[in-house]
Amino acid sequence: MGNGIAHVFAQFGNQVNLIDVKQESLDKAIITITKNLDRQVSKGTLTEEAKQKTLANISTHTDLASALKDRELVVEAATENVDLKLKIFSQLDEFAPEGCILATNTSSISITKIASATKRPGSVIGMHFMNPVPVMKLIEIIRGYSTTDDVTNEVVQLSKALDKVPVAVNDYPGFVANKILIPMINEAIWTLYQGTAGVEEIDTIMKLGMAHPMGPLRLADFIGLDTCLSILKVLHDGYGQPKYAPCPLLVNMVMAGKLGDKKGEGFYNYADPKNPVVAKSFLK
Ligand code: CAA
Repeated sequence: MGNGIAHVFAQFGNQVNLIDVKQESLDKAIITITKNLDRQVSKGTLTEEAKQKTLANISTHTDLASALKDRELVVEAATENVDLKLKIFSQLDEFAPEGCILATNTSSISITKIASATKRPGSVIGMHFMNPVPVMKLIEIIRGYSTTDDVTNEVVQLSKALDKVPVAVNDYPGFVANKILIPMINEAIWTLYQGTAGVEEIDTIMKLGMAHPMGPLRLADFIGLDTCLSILKVLHDGYGQPKYAPCPLLVNMVMAGKLGDKKGEGFYNYADPKNPVVAKSFLK
């Protein structure tokens, strides 16, 4: 997600400092951004000159303090782990200049909780991009309990300048996108677990019957099964309703390391990433 967010900001003329703890991850991110820009050039939606300008707008950094010193906006896109986010936000608060907005791309962790790690909760906000970031139009903007209207309006305007459609919502578990999407994915997994239908049948029904670009099980692999499970746990803990209980099959697959695209297998096998096939364990 981090490389996609950097890609979009840089493409629309912003000077981006891309930060990670490891230079190796930053090098990988630049390779991915270049590949995705090349795809846009080959489709004719971006010129070679615009591609070069986009890449020139991105510099990579491993030292947080120096990379933050002149920033107006930070978008954090680290792993979905509350303790890690709290630690990062207390550092961002320490090093980012006064007035700098601190945004998080979290898919479900409370913005209000993240803001509590800073002395500027009014300037902390959710900026939830959708994957793949260069393609998906939506940015879900999440107002924490203390986020000011000025900060919300500024982030809404900034999102429009990225040619995205921002939609502002309030900070409750799962926000809106994942409160609706992830229970649908969980229900698809229950449907498979209960033997009502197989992987391809479920995905075909939702793709052709509901005009979804990907079936829910293919989408679960794309998002990452560990991410789906962690969002379900946030919904389950936050609302205390049994309807959010994760399907045992999802829990088992995460424990087995079958996390989807990023691990080469989930509901599908990605040995040939362009032609995924139903994973062996789900073949009848
Ligand atoms: N970067 C840049 N462009 C990309 C891209 C990337 N990573 N991936 C795909 N594209 C572009 C392609 O160049 C192509 O562009 P054109 O339309 O201009 O030709 C377009 O996207 C479609 O790509 P493809 O033809 O290769 O493949 P496709 O038609 O199968 O579409 C898809 C791929 C866009 C991923 C589509 O399947 C899709 O929309 N899937 C659903 C994605 C979705 O639901 N995302 C939200 C996930 S939930 C989330 O992110 C939030 C969370 O917290 C969990």
